[in-house]
Amino acid sequence: MSDPAGSPSTPTPPPGCPAHQSAVQLAGLEYQQTPSQLYRTMRREHGAVAPVLLDNDIPAWLVLGYPEVSYVTSHDELFARDSRRWNQWDHIPPDWPLLPYVGYQPSVLFTEGTEHQRRAGVITKALEGVDQFELARECELIASQLISSFSGSGQAELMSLYAHALPARAVLWMCGMPQDGTDTESLVDDLRISLDAGEGDDPVAAYMRVGERIAQLVKEKRERPGPDVTSRMVQHPAGLSDEEIVQDLISVIAAAQQPTANWICNTLRLLLTDERFALDVSGGRVSVGDALNEVLWLDTPTQNFIGRWAVRDTQLGGRLIREGDCLVLGLAAANTDPQIWPESHVGAENSAHLSFSNGEHRCPYPAPLLADVMARTAVETLLERLPDLVLAVEPEELTWRPSIWMRGLTSLPVQFTPSMH
Ligand code: HEM
Repeated sequence: MSDPAGSPSTPTPPPGCPAHQSAVQLAGLEYQQTPSQLYRTMRREHGAVAPVLLDNDIPAWLVLGYPEVSYVTSHDELFARDSRRWNQWDHIPPDWPLLPYVGYQPSVLFTEGTEHQRRAGVITKALEGVDQFELARECELIASQLISSFSGSGQAELMSLYAHALPARAVLWMCGMPQDGTDTESLVDDLRISLDAGEGDDPVAAYMRVGERIAQLVKEKRERPGPDVTSRMVQHPAGLSDEEIVQDLISVIAAAQQPTANWICNTLRLLLTDERFALDVSGGRVSVGDALNEVLWLDTPTQNFIGRWAVRDTQLGGRLIREGDCLVLGLAAANTDPQIWPESHVGAENSAHLSFSNGEHRCPYPAPLLADVMARTAVETLLERLPDLVLAVEPEELTWRPSIWMRGLTSLPVQFTPSMH
């Protein structure tokens, strides 16, 4: 493989921003429908690091190559996480749509160096305390309750009724939220609205309510700790303040909910549309693991992640990157990089994909395992309870969400023989 930093190719970009170099608009239908083809074309035309334009024509770099994404994520001293480093802040309007993702917040996500080690260390330790068997049992219970709410009708829209709801409830259970109250119900609702607002929703108000409820949870756990993630964060010797714990808990919950929901739904889509997984043969139990893994390679939930900011002028993939430039991690593009799959067949036999990113800021070690427990239990329980589940529309009618960041369906309508238990 070539050196990811590379030597500058000709022509050398002019000083200033990537926009000067026939940048690609990072928006549009192709990102939803056939992103892998698009990434391959971009790679052919622009190389492993492409100049792109975000909303309002704000310039950035999209890192498309597997070695280049690995390089960026493992060199924090060159490509850091604190978005206040950005050289474009003067051009960002206050209502810029990507602000919720890149606007600095004092959470683990934007910390660097020893401060990041401190914060991420607490999260890792707290997540390590989750018993995977207990989590699987809880997910089965949640799955059964959700399925019972629609199994009598013979049809359901699984995105809202199942794929989103299950990880939201499971992660709140891990954090020690009481499972019986309407309190948890409204928190699940507010989480959905703040992460994925629909028509008529007020995401800002919902986010405020999430913050207030989590702050109350932290207070409760300081007074009466239990065997949960929040209590372990409160009791950790690093001595995080309540404000820090609230920020980081919200990050953990948000980071868990959206990608795991899309992992579940993309896996169900694969199982229901691809003959190789022939669901009607014995519930496809053996294939669930294969399907989960294949999705991480080919339809990964976080297709692009924003991002990293260059600490100083440097080179990457033959490009001159200026101090303060923004780099978007092209995780989906990297997973299907023709350099690692020269035959253009993407195998899904191993787990060397970059779907959980890489390096210091990667999805913290126990999290991918916990996400796997949630997603696997969600898919298996559904197939066991509703063994003749089929799509209620033609596969071509399924539509992807209009997002260049998350890859997931707008809806997943299914039908099955109604059952009363
Ligand atoms: C139990 C479920 C999960 C939890 C608790 C969780 C938690 C987290 C946290 C706390 C971070 C921030 C790490 C940091 O900045 O130091 C993170 C980052 C990330 N997670 Fe997860 N996550 C979960 C599931 C997933 C899933 C299912 C995916 C995708 C398949 C995913 C992909 C990522 C990615 C791409 C990042 C960004 C890493 C980077 O900046 O390089 N996570 N996750």
